[in-house]
Formats: sequence, C-alpha cells, structure tokens
Amino acid sequence: MKALFIGDVVGRSGRNAVAAMLPVLAREHSWDLCIANGENAAGGRGLTPACAQELLAAGVDVITMGNHTWDNKEILAFIDEASYLVRPANYPAPVPGQGYTIVEKGGTRTAVINLSGQVFMEPALDCPFAKADTLLAQLGDCDYTIIDFHGEATAEKVGLARYLDGRASAVVGTHTHIQTADEQVLPRGTLYITDVGATGAICSVLGMEVDPVIKRLTTKIPQRFPAARGPARLCAVLLDFSAGRILRLALDQD
Ligand SMILES: [Fe+2]
Ligand SMILES: [Fe+2]
Repeated sequence: MKALFIGDVVGRSGRNAVAAMLPVLAREHSWDLCIANGENAAGGRGLTPACAQELLAAGVDVITMGNHTWDNKEILAFIDEASYLVRPANYPAPVPGQGYTIVEKGGTRTAVINLSGQVFMEPALDCPFAKADTLLAQLGDCDYTIIDFHGEATAEKVGLARYLDGRASAVVGTHTHIQTADEQVLPRGTLYITDVGATGAICSVLGMEVDPVIKRLTTKIPQRFPAARGPARLCAVLLDFSAGRILRLALDQD
C-alpha cells in the first residue's frame, strides 16, 4: 500500500500545482491513496467547498486541516457532511467535523488522523499524545494509520513520532510550510518526516506575498497577507508501507 501525502496547499497557486503536477508525478510513481493538507487552500486561509472540490477533482482522496481550519466560515456549512475532510482531533469536544476518517481501498482500511501540536500553537487543545493513544486503540482494526501532526515545534513532532513508533504506520508533520530533510523509518517501523513542506508559489514567504510580510516584520504594523501567485513548488512524501520506505518529493513548476 502506498500513500502520497501533499504538504499544506496554499491558495490558487497551490491548488493549480496539485492539479498540474499529480499527473507528472504519476508517470514515475504510483499510490493507492492521496492525502493533502488543505488548511491554506482558500486564499491561504481555510477551505471552501469549491476549493475542496478542486483538490478532490485533481485526485486527492482525503483533506486534512490545522490551525487555519476555521478561518473561512464557509467550512461550517459542509464540514459535518464531508467524509473526506479531517480537522485536528484534539480540538474540544463540541467542535464540528471529525478528527479522523477511514478510507477503504483495494481491500485495505486506512485511517487518516489529524492532530495539532500544543507547543507554540493554540494552547487550549487536548494533549495530542493522549488523543493519539485513544484513537489508535479505537482504530485497532485498520490496516494502516497515517497521522498528520500539524505543529510548530520540531521537538514535539519528533517526540510524538517516537512515542507512536510501531503503533502508527506514519507520522507526517505539517504547518511550518518548510520541508525538512529528516525523512526516516523509525526503529519499530513508523514512517516519519518532521515537515512535508508546503505546496504554493515559489516566490513567496510560506506561500504568501512577500512585500506585506516584510512590511509586517520591519514595521510591526499588522498587514493582510494575500496568497502569492505564480509558479509553485509541490512538496510531498510518498509513504510506501509495503516496502517500509518514505520518499521525500519537491517538484517545481516551470
Ligand atoms: Fe499551513
Ligand atoms: Fe498551520
């Protein structure tokens, strides 16, 4: 079983890159399941039904989210009906949506779980370590479990992966938008990378237009951060569970 996991898709450039580059990737690689983090898919902030449909039409099976889940209020109208959509499972109980989904493909059952870190993130979330324990116990009959751990602090991400080594099939980090070169198979077999990276405009700061970010950094005056346009880099990992391998991918549009 192979799964392709695409890092935070940012704005129109990111969405276009997914649609344009999945067929290119498919010439060299194959996968049974495609997951994309979509927390920045709608103009850099959140997800709309139209943006979700674009990603699904491009070949994405499951969309995971993160701290930007609620940025676009349109999500509230469809998150409870969208079986392909997963928001962090460690949000407080009354929050809409689901923290995991199960995909049945080719005779296998794969659980895709979304968790948020607590370090340098929204502080009122439940403990991701305890939540992972609960969910993995609950999902014991699944063949594979893939966790999108959406977090800022590298130590927390490595720590959760080590904690779950041998219990989760893969732990992949998202949120920083910068791909890390530490993809590895942990001692008990869990596939891991600290951050998959983002899929968005190359000429940008984390997928956003450069000038407003520099203005904010130099003046401290709050700015609007529109998603940048232009050719994109697609960042992803290919998780090959049958072979026990993780392949890091970064592909630039011309
Ligand atoms: Fe993001
Ligand atoms: Fe994020």
